[in-house]
Amino acid sequence: MIITVRTAAVLLLTTIVVLALLNHRPHLLASAPLLVASNKPQWKEPRKAWHTLTGARPRLIGHRGEKAFMPEHTRASYWQAALESADYIEPDLAVTQDGHLVVNHNEWLGDNTNVAEIPALAHLRANKTWDTGEVSMTKTNEWFIADLTLEQIRMLRVRQDPRYPWRPSHFDNVFGVLTFAEYLELISELTARLGRPFGVVPELKSPKLYNRDRPPHYFEDQAIRLLSEWANSTEPFSAGLGPVWQSFDQDTAEYLAAHTSIPVASLVENQPRWFTPTGLNRLARFAQIIAPWKDFFVAGAESVFLARNITWNSKEIEKLGGFIKPSDLAREIHQRGMEIAAYTFYDERQQMGYTRGFKNREEELFYFFTIGVDYLFVENIVEARVLRQRFGDLLI
Ligand SMILES: *[C@@H]1O[C@H](CO)[C@@H](O)[C@H](O)[C@H]1NC(C)=O
Ligand SMILES: *[C@@H]1O[C@H](CO)[C@@H](O)[C@H](O)[C@H]1NC(C)=O
Ligand SMILES: *[C@@H]1O[C@H](CO)[C@@H](O)[C@H](O)[C@H]1NC(C)=O
Repeated sequence: MIITVRTAAVLLLTTIVVLALLNHRPHLLASAPLLVASNKPQWKEPRKAWHTLTGARPRLIGHRGEKAFMPEHTRASYWQAALESADYIEPDLAVTQDGHLVVNHNEWLGDNTNVAEIPALAHLRANKTWDTGEVSMTKTNEWFIADLTLEQIRMLRVRQDPRYPWRPSHFDNVFGVLTFAEYLELISELTARLGRPFGVVPELKSPKLYNRDRPPHYFEDQAIRLLSEWANSTEPFSAGLGPVWQSFDQDTAEYLAAHTSIPVASLVENQPRWFTPTGLNRLARFAQIIAPWKDFFVAGAESVFLARNITWNSKEIEKLGGFIKPSDLAREIHQRGMEIAAYTFYDERQQMGYTRGFKNREEELFYFFTIGVDYLFVENIVEARVLRQRFGDLLI
């Protein structure tokens, strides 16, 4: 193991930052484990190299910016992700009533904005059922981005979701919701001010909802236009940090793949058929990256779907080659020439912030580094960077 003076200095500095970030440790509540990492492979052979598809170290994607510390998807969240040197900074896209692309995770606004306190918007409270691209979703008594104009969205202030009381709230109600164009401008600004590039990885959420009563593929076409306008005005992308699309909606993923040369990450979480050899072959026709919920690599498809009450037709799954064992999933994806983006590696202070079966975040991340995951969606980015550095220093 070679640690240069520079590496040691970086490690010391980042450790100090991590310790500062971790000084507020909420009580971790015990909860009944739903999933057991019974199939967790034991890695006995010496680690010689990164096992990613390209052999490069895995890239860390700041989840909604850095939502562990800042209200998600705000300028502050993206700034913090950049200051923590994330490789990619993630925006989630939604479409306003008047057709503008904005960044927000949920299709609704009550969890992370002050929408409920704005009398002028009270009449827009509604119930909605929609297809996320994977499952049907219903939300009642909420305000939906799809029903508000951009002008109305501009009235909102973003705040931390109160269900996570340990996240700092002193930046609540300061920042507004950004448009996708403003996010892209901010990425350029961060690059100019910090002297380094950041990858963009926009997720198109619920296109079947946002394309309702609009020309077919309106959402996709707007996202493509805004991203390519920005990309055309930007320096050539650094190797390994070019833009990546993400979507749970396979129609949208296929459309983006057919209409752009930007790699597509196919998010998979609720559809049993994708976790079979034939399912992966099907995804490989258009996706360059498969992005599964992390538990699929540990507990496996059957356990995940049982825990979620998602049923499957055993005969159909058998015909598709059966569920791939969790310990084989990474290799099966790589064998088809696709990279892996696993999500979400939470701040360790969050209840069950690491996958069940692991005793801490180091054990969790080291497992995912060992199986060769190419991208990780992370929170507390500095902590993840320190662990990536430690793992890299252990390679012989
Ligand atoms: C939404 O549905 C609930 C029942 O689940 C009903 O009480 C409420 O009035 C509905 N709200 C609207 C705005 O339609
Ligand atoms: C970006 O540049 C390409 C190649 O020069 C061009 O074909 C495309 O129309 C441009 N896109 C936009 C949105 O300006
Ligand atoms: C699954 O179904 C059981 C029994 O109906 C229920 O108790 C449990 O909460 C459900 N779990 C999920 C994740 O929906």
